[in-house]
Amino acid sequence: MTKIERLGVVGAGLMGSGIAEVSALAGLDVIVVEVTDEAARAGRSRLWKSLNRAVDKGKITEADRDQAQSRLHFTTTVADLDDRQLVIEAIAENAELKTKLFTDLDEIVTDPDAILASNTSSIPIAQLAAATGRPDKVIGIHFFNPVPVLKLVELVPSLLTSEDTVERASAFATEQLGKQTIRATDRSGFVVNALLVPYLLSAIRMYEGGHASAEDIDNGMVLGCAHPMGPLALSDLVGLDTLKAIADSMYDEYAEPLYAAPPLLKRMVEAGLKGKKSGRGFYDYS
Ligand code: 3HC
Repeated sequence: MTKIERLGVVGAGLMGSGIAEVSALAGLDVIVVEVTDEAARAGRSRLWKSLNRAVDKGKITEADRDQAQSRLHFTTTVADLDDRQLVIEAIAENAELKTKLFTDLDEIVTDPDAILASNTSSIPIAQLAAATGRPDKVIGIHFFNPVPVLKLVELVPSLLTSEDTVERASAFATEQLGKQTIRATDRSGFVVNALLVPYLLSAIRMYEGGHASAEDIDNGMVLGCAHPMGPLALSDLVGLDTLKAIADSMYDEYAEPLYAAPPLLKRMVEAGLKGKKSGRGFYDYS
């Protein structure tokens, strides 16, 4: 099976920069696209920080870091992705923006065998596939935050994705990036978020209802269930705007109250409290 050597990542937020980092460390040439120079600089600085952290933690050598940095290129021009063999979209969880991007990518990426993938956690892959002339080459490749640390990748074929595309995406994730995959059908939330999001929203409802403090809710799950972090700290890590967008998509899909964003989550997002990335969410990170 042909190895992916040239990767494009669209979006240099938490997920996009993580995907670009692990791919560059795996030896791929990576072009990262952002909308503005400022966003590209922010993504690059997040990525450099994470690589330095990996060096400090003894996970990689300084030479690994330097080589990975030399393989990473930042641009604000989507057309620079024309020669890519795989493009992974990791922009905001917004169906309209993603659909438009897939239409553009389909025109830009010249290799007819190139795979167009989305890191979405809740937007139908079929909808993105239908925006292209190559629906058999469109697939969900869903990573978990922090991408350099968490092993899982969910592979999400739509009704139109070919088995060859699934196999190539799987080989990329496992053989090239060293991740482990699970496969899910094209239903909002796939496997992990379908279970995780109702849990996070329940914790927010519990806090909103005054049942316990944020610290006690989180300590309850860390000390009582051996979770690496509590649900409110995890919501802050995921990003409250992202969590709300995922919950909204899942609510659209299933119309189940357990996916409905609690009022407190909506107010926090409206107030610009997006969690760790904005400096404040359920906790203060300033
Ligand atoms: N590169 C490589 N390794 C790194 C690293 C980096 N940049 N940063 C940290 N690590 C390694 C550390 O070396 C350490 O490894 P070790 O256990 O072998 O020593 C391990 O990662 C943990 O790092 P730290 O000790 O620095 O930090 P913590 O122990 O506090 O862990 C955490 C932080 C990894 C965030 C952990 O709390 C955790 O895993 N939390 C749960 C996160 C989670 O559930 N994410 C899923 C979110 S859902 C999602 O992403 C889907 C989306 O659609 C919403």
